[in-house]
Amino acid sequence: MPKTLVCEDGSDTIFIRWWWSDVAIPINWAADFIAPMKRSIRPLFSILFLIVFAITLSCRILIRRGGRFSSIELQTNVIVQPPVPVFNSTLLKYAAIDIGEAQAKQEIEQLLEGNFASQGRYRTFATWRRFNHHDIRASSSRGVPVTLRSPQFYRYWLDFRKVLHDWARAKRYQPDIMNELIGLVKNPVDEHSGLVGSNRKYSSCAVVGNSGILLQKDYGELIDGHEIVIRLNNARTERFQQHVGSKTNISFVNSNILHLCARRQGCFCHPYGVNVPMVMYVCQPVHFLDYTICNLSHRAPLIVTDPRFDMLCARIVKYYSLKRFVEETEKSLDEWSSAHDGSMFHYSSGFQAVMLAVGICDKVSVFGFGKSTLAKHHYHTNQKGELKLHDYEAEYDFYHDLMKSSQVMPFISDFKFPPVVIYQ
Ligand SMILES: *[C@@H]1O[C@H](CO)[C@@H](O)[C@H](O)[C@H]1NC(C)=O
Ligand SMILES: *[C@@H]1O[C@H](CO)[C@@H](O)[C@H](O)[C@H]1NC(C)=O
Ligand SMILES: *[C@@H]1O[C@H](CO)[C@@H](O)[C@H](O)[C@H]1NC(C)=O
Repeated sequence: MPKTLVCEDGSDTIFIRWWWSDVAIPINWAADFIAPMKRSIRPLFSILFLIVFAITLSCRILIRRGGRFSSIELQTNVIVQPPVPVFNSTLLKYAAIDIGEAQAKQEIEQLLEGNFASQGRYRTFATWRRFNHHDIRASSSRGVPVTLRSPQFYRYWLDFRKVLHDWARAKRYQPDIMNELIGLVKNPVDEHSGLVGSNRKYSSCAVVGNSGILLQKDYGELIDGHEIVIRLNNARTERFQQHVGSKTNISFVNSNILHLCARRQGCFCHPYGVNVPMVMYVCQPVHFLDYTICNLSHRAPLIVTDPRFDMLCARIVKYYSLKRFVEETEKSLDEWSSAHDGSMFHYSSGFQAVMLAVGICDKVSVFGFGKSTLAKHHYHTNQKGELKLHDYEAEYDFYHDLMKSSQVMPFISDFKFPPVVIYQ
């Protein structure tokens, strides 16, 4: 008889899932099934059972060896499902509505037509260029001066349109996009650092936020001890190493940061060194101009987050924000929008960086997230308040659910969450 084995999750039952069917049979159940049978047929049945078991095992070993079938192996491994939390369907429905969608679409269309009227101070492409000092002597990676009406600038313009167009078209909801982050982000990052691309996740990642609470602890060494350190929005580490560490493997920014750097010669935007890859989410479509120009001169990859990943993040944060709103204020959901800047509402960079880490790491540690009345808003600046268009409280609610290692989150399916620890 197959013995009752101890599974990885510590339970004492192993389930056999026939690889050709959807029926899973726990081994101890199978034993119970065979035990009461007539003595005469018991050996026969046991042998038959063993043969089937052996075939199943060898098939699974085969599947495991043929790496490319690993997804099949995953499916056969489903063991015990924890109780599934039920999400409020009204909140899910509201969270899926993108209030700013129509406006964003219109803005993108205008940009594609070369109409910058809705871009505030960059009223025309020319003012954008002037603002960014690309008219006179900005240079591309090859040191070729880029002048007004130069063919090179025209190429930027065509590239910009193509990138923006593709990005806008790719935006949609995909519940299992978390599984693609390895291919979308980790592989290009590893390729750059000369590592052979594998589907292994990083063993441990530290996401370092910018909250002033970091100054209350000396987490520097602990942070640097992670395989990968992700930092946010170019917060500097000099003079703070004791608290924030010094190593950086991924610089995660929003496109405003790049927009500001784009004004500098060569888009200089590398507080952690020119070889540190950047991952950026685009908060205003016009920033694709900065991307198009800066992408040329970046030595390390400059990766724009996939719009499907952006959409997933947006929905999750909105769900948590709506939930918090109705629970705290007891107001109706329709009033959420005016309380939270409706169409401007956005997740924070920190939130998406944590989500990225969750997708590419086996273990995630989060530092420098959270507030304290004694701490500054940012450890490295004197910024007083926080932006209204973010709902940090709602994001903290989400992190707490992550820490409870709940395997089910709104809008995400077919994804296994790694353990997450938040250091306060
Ligand atoms: C879901 O949330 C809405 C809005 O807060 C509330 O009116 C409704 O009762 C909730 N539904 C359930 C099943 O809890
Ligand atoms: C992370 O960065 C450190 C310091 O720059 C570097 O030594 C290390 O190889 C990087 N790790 C990976 C996996 O790229
Ligand atoms: C950005 O630059 C990289 C490296 O030069 C290049 O492979 C990639 O295609 C560029 N991205 C876009 C959208 O042009």
